Amino acid sequence: MLTRTDAHVTTWVIAILLFILALFLHRAGKEKAFKTVQMVLRLFYILVIVTGALLFFHNQRLDPALYGLKLLGGILVIGMMEMITLRLSKRKSTGILWVLLIIFFAAVLYLGLRLPMGWHPFY
Ligand code: HEM
Repeated sequence: MLTRTDAHVTTWVIAILLFILALFLHRAGKEKAFKTVQMVLRLFYILVIVTGALLFFHNQRLDPALYGLKLLGGILVIGMMEMITLRLSKRKSTGILWVLLIIFFAAVLYLGLRLPMGWHPFY
């Protein structure tokens, strides 16, 4: 878990699937199921942060700047996902948050794949 990315990748993939499920449930008007998935999603946010932090503290000396950006980007992606589900539950607009989510997600994917552990399609 300190040099392998499997646990981290597993947790964020599950978090994204739960996020998509929450969107469908909200759209279908199933508010109770939506709230339940929102709670499970929060648990997965913590798991993504814990697995990411373990990788971060063990490896960041290899490239502190890029690792720092990766950590910040990861937290921002989670922040956008949480704000979108929260605002949906309050029936508020989410437009700009979607734009930010897509930008942060693309940056985090690039940084994660650029950094030395796990897959590296960029070198
Ligand atoms: C939903 C949010 C996140 C996404 C989509 C994401 C995505 C990724 C991806 C694609 C990788 C590369 C995996 C591989 O090459 O096998 C990765 C690795 C990593 N992530 Fe995340 N991540 C997220 C959140 C976080 C958070 C919150 C942190 C820090 C607390 C973090 C820290 C790291 C670290 C340190 C690595 C290892 C980089 C390396 O050494 O190659 N991530 N992440």
